[in-house]
Amino acid sequence: MNMRSPPPAAPRDRRNRPMHDLRISITDRCNFRCVYCMPKTVFGRDYPFLPREELLTYEEIVRLARLFAAQGVCKVRLTGGEPLLRKDVERLIEQLATIPGLELTLTTNGSLLAARASSLRDAGLHRVTVSLDALDDDVFKRMNDADYPVARVLAGIEAAAACGLAPVKVNMVVKRGTNDNEILPMTRHFRGSGHILRFIEYMDAGNANAWQVKEVVPAGEVVRRIDAEFPLEAVDPNYEGEVAERWRYRDGGGEIGVIASVTQAFCSGCTRIRLSTDGKLYTCLFATSGHDLRSLLRGGAGDEQIADAIARIWQARDDRYSELRAAGAPAAQKIEMSYIGG
Ligand code: GTP
Ligand code: 5AD
Ligand code: SF4
Ligand code: SF4
Repeated sequence: MNMRSPPPAAPRDRRNRPMHDLRISITDRCNFRCVYCMPKTVFGRDYPFLPREELLTYEEIVRLARLFAAQGVCKVRLTGGEPLLRKDVERLIEQLATIPGLELTLTTNGSLLAARASSLRDAGLHRVTVSLDALDDDVFKRMNDADYPVARVLAGIEAAAACGLAPVKVNMVVKRGTNDNEILPMTRHFRGSGHILRFIEYMDAGNANAWQVKEVVPAGEVVRRIDAEFPLEAVDPNYEGEVAERWRYRDGGGEIGVIASVTQAFCSGCTRIRLSTDGKLYTCLFATSGHDLRSLLRGGAGDEQIADAIARIWQARDDRYSELRAAGAPAAQKIEMSYIGG
């Protein structure tokens, strides 16, 4: 949908990767406290999140998105934190929808989705991805450390699909010993539903989650466990640089995906760039510092100057953190995923 070839001047980075996906974190706040992302022990209930004036305004975000689209970006994903907590996100989507050729998506925890799905669709959103780590309420609550029932998230998923924000992708982060026994119940529930369930390897993102490699369930193991009950076959990627490896049920029950960012790094095809809540540009999920676009915007820079800065940042990009981690490189101080936009 809305795919187009990048303009001739689209920049390439030092590993010859084009810039296709822009992920924009529009708030660092969240009403969940997932153990792998924003644990209560570190963030508490009243953690001092960014003050309002630090956030990019919707006008600033749209201006930047236009400049990114002119350089080859064909997909914008709104993330957070929980993006539906930012006031009137529909107003931002309406403005982004005026940029030609952009696919507009949003990643949400689903808690507020049932009530908002149709207004999001009316504003011009194309698809949503919903995070859901378990079908069992007790396991789900242990993962998100907030008292949200699974049923409310499932209602959000159904409301989104019903109004055409489809196919809905469902992201399950798998943490060994916490929710890996939910792999098969989740599979059985979403098989044949038309939604695409994707299993994500628990990553060493940020510093708050005290990540340990023994808690990672390799994607290969997830596929084997499912294949034993529902035979699977591999499917080709939808597009170059897709992070999920696709599999389909041999009996036609639909497809699933696995995101093996730990055991099978996919940096060589990585076309993603991330804009943080306060307007810093990060060329990798594991980058230790960002490039301050907000001070350019607020310092009166013209479009050409900002476009030039974006192109230079991309051209200088050499990141491949997951590949280096796999090769045994030590972890540096990292940025929290809720701020940079998972
Ligand atoms: P679609 O293909 O359009 O559905 O989007 P997507 O898979 O890029 O987006 P989504 O937000 O669903 O990404 C799924 C998860 O994969 C993220 O939440 C991250 O956990 C992980 N992920 C996405 N991009 C990267 C990346 O560049 N590097 C690493 N290491 N992990 C990533
Ligand atoms: N490892 C893997 N995925 C993560 N996410 C957040 N933190 C992690 C982590 N440490 C996922 C969420 C959501 C997306 C935005 O990122 O579950 O699907
Ligand atoms: Fe919130 Fe998503 Fe982080 Fe969970 S993973 S705390 S829902 S931002
Ligand atoms: Fe891209 Fe960095 Fe993730 Fe590698 S680790 S896939 S370079 S974001």
